[in-house]
Amino acid sequence: FLPLEEQIPSACAQIQDYPKEGILFYDVTTLFANPEVFRRAMDELAARFEGQFDIVAGVEARGFLMASALAYIAGTGVMTVRKAGKLPRDTYMKEYELEYGSAAIEIHKEDIPAGTRVMLVDDLLATGGTLEAATHLMKMADLEVAGIGVLLELEGLGGRELLAGNRVEALALVSE
Ligand code: PRP
Ligand code: MG
Repeated sequence: FLPLEEQIPSACAQIQDYPKEGILFYDVTTLFANPEVFRRAMDELAARFEGQFDIVAGVEARGFLMASALAYIAGTGVMTVRKAGKLPRDTYMKEYELEYGSAAIEIHKEDIPAGTRVMLVDDLLATGGTLEAATHLMKMADLEVAGIGVLLELEGLGGRELLAGNRVEALALVSE
């Protein structure tokens, strides 16, 4: 067996010069389709935070695939951190910067009791803007971020620095 930190990048389709010249893009769709790597990755992330969270929050869209599996392993429920405009009741909303323009994510107000320990997950940590906005939503709802779990961390984009103060577990580290 390859160690997981090598298996994860190898299980991603890697696209040269996408979305622009000089960038090596890691596409996680092939990892999610790989039963051995998907199971191993989810088991490992769940183990790293075992007993330390009460619910798993996944960031739309790719984080949903992880959150559901992790919650099933741990026997917890799932929270969906959604792209803005999808939720029917009162929400907390946080905008964040993208490479071109901005986006916003939301959670419902008052669905989860204050003080609940949340394991926050997404597929990829790049600039950290998305996950930083998600931690902000947790604070707005008086939830405690037990930690952040990602499959892949892209080195050199400042994501880990932006998330300083949170425990961040990345299963693999790659450079762009
Ligand atoms: C991608 C990825 C992470 C985020 C990482 O999502 O799935 O959520 O970008 O980038 P950052 O660390 O620079 O914020 P994207 O916004 O493309 O949406 P998707 O998951 O719905 O495809
Ligand atoms: Mg995403």
